[in-house]
Amino acid sequence: MSGSRHILVAVAWPYASGSRHLGHLSGAYLPADIFARYHRLAGNQVLMVSGSDVHGTPITVRADQEGVEPAVIVDRYHQEFLSNWKSLGISWDLYTTTGTDNHREVTWDVFRRLHEHGYIVAKSTPQFYDAEAERFLPDRYVEGTCPFCGYTGARGDQCDDCGRQLDPEDLIDPRSRFSGTTPVMRETEHYFLRLSAFEERLLAWLESRQGWRKHVQNMAIGFTKDGLHDRAITRDLTWGIPLPPEFSDLGEGKRIYVWFEAVIGYLSAAKEWAQRTGDPQAWQAWWEDPEAESYYFIGKDNVVFHAVIWPCQLMGYEGLNLPTDVPANQYVTFKGEKGSASRGIGRSITWYTERLEPDALRYALAASLPEQNDTDLSDDEIVRRINEELVATWGNLVNRVLNLTARSFDGMVPTPGTLAAEDRELLDTIDRTLSDEADLIEHVELRSGLRTVMQGAQAVNAYLNAQEPWKVIKQDRQRAATILWTALSAIAGLGVGFLPYLPFTSARLHDMLGLKAGKGGLRRPDVPEGARLGEIGPLFTKLDDTAL
Ligand code: MF3
Ligand code: ZN
Repeated sequence: MSGSRHILVAVAWPYASGSRHLGHLSGAYLPADIFARYHRLAGNQVLMVSGSDVHGTPITVRADQEGVEPAVIVDRYHQEFLSNWKSLGISWDLYTTTGTDNHREVTWDVFRRLHEHGYIVAKSTPQFYDAEAERFLPDRYVEGTCPFCGYTGARGDQCDDCGRQLDPEDLIDPRSRFSGTTPVMRETEHYFLRLSAFEERLLAWLESRQGWRKHVQNMAIGFTKDGLHDRAITRDLTWGIPLPPEFSDLGEGKRIYVWFEAVIGYLSAAKEWAQRTGDPQAWQAWWEDPEAESYYFIGKDNVVFHAVIWPCQLMGYEGLNLPTDVPANQYVTFKGEKGSASRGIGRSITWYTERLEPDALRYALAASLPEQNDTDLSDDEIVRRINEELVATWGNLVNRVLNLTARSFDGMVPTPGTLAAEDRELLDTIDRTLSDEADLIEHVELRSGLRTVMQGAQAVNAYLNAQEPWKVIKQDRQRAATILWTALSAIAGLGVGFLPYLPFTSARLHDMLGLKAGKGGLRRPDVPEGARLGEIGPLFTKLDDTAL
């Protein structure tokens, strides 16, 4: 584990079209933050970027519903997201939006290069048209029945029930959102991305990926093997990024398709970050150096865009790194239903941050991340995780050891005698816990990483129950000092292990133990004998029945 790796943590850009729900937090933002915090702790150069996705029909549909300008919607939810990140400690290097001049410029640069390389061409194509409203119907402006699952509220871009990506013409019984009438097909010209040109190269690349989650790799390979078809990357809309001026020949009223430009945000945000740090070329270390690594944290409904289409855009551009890994998560379900911002399933992140301490919420979600399977999450389960695991195993352990030490040794770290075999064994267990955890996080197995640290906490509890320092102290003060020093050292080690998951309380624990912050990776710090403990207090509060 060298300390100089460049790690790009690229996180899905949430649509600023409504509050995001817990599924989004579990799917992308929390795992990305855990991963980024781990790598910073290990001394690596992390660049963690994202921003609000302010374009596309999710935004304009919402604006139409409320009868306001899209900008009103976008500003409202961008502010809400910023406050979500702040309350939860999501540690962005830059969280921006796709509405910046920089993002438009970078999008145009990518568009022009792909065009120059022959991968973007104009074609005439039939599109749904609402003859009554006299307008074309991109993406979410058409609804109908999903050809895969039969859900009758499917939209032209995606079925919210089975999660599949759709094209408007896939819908059975299509109807216009404007007039409710059945749309007709009409020819219109659009720019297309020639995905077909990448089919072989992409398949070879996907098949050679090592260590990817099976469900991600299989979905991307399956999609590619079905045949990569050229895709329209413009839409008949007035909200979105316009075409570069020299491409205005298709007429006014065309905008770049949101999915073509939003993924470019990973690059434009890196450039914006570099500008802001005063070293405009600094982004290159994450994008152009082939040794640099990039991890894309997304939900599974975004796999095709990140593991198929974005890599094609990058291949066509030439000279930029392809994703190292796309550790997409499966869905969090709420009573069996997939969360959906537009359908109001799953409560908002804001609702939970108003009721729970950030680390408690982070714990409950991290302990049930849908890394391999869809995972159901109920409020009862969140409360149970917090009370029966976090508070009972970890919070109470810290309390117990710190209070006993404070009471018996005058608020100072006691000086141990020679360690007994069981003391050394506990510290070895903790050291092994941390190296196992590091290994799991490197492979983006964050849920197992957390379980490993919790098992470490159980080992300390078992050690204390066997050693009973509260009894020993009555006859053998020196032995009690050794036991408590050992337990404090174990807790200090676990505090480091919990840092990526529970940043707020782990920092407080650090202060309580009188330790200085280090960047030495997941290693057990030395607890200095005779050091004065900081101010002691419980890390977590137990929730009662009315908490959620
Ligand atoms: N806005 C999209 C969504 O919420 C995600 C975009 S990820 C990006 O599903 F990379 F394309 F920006
Ligand atoms: Zn469906």
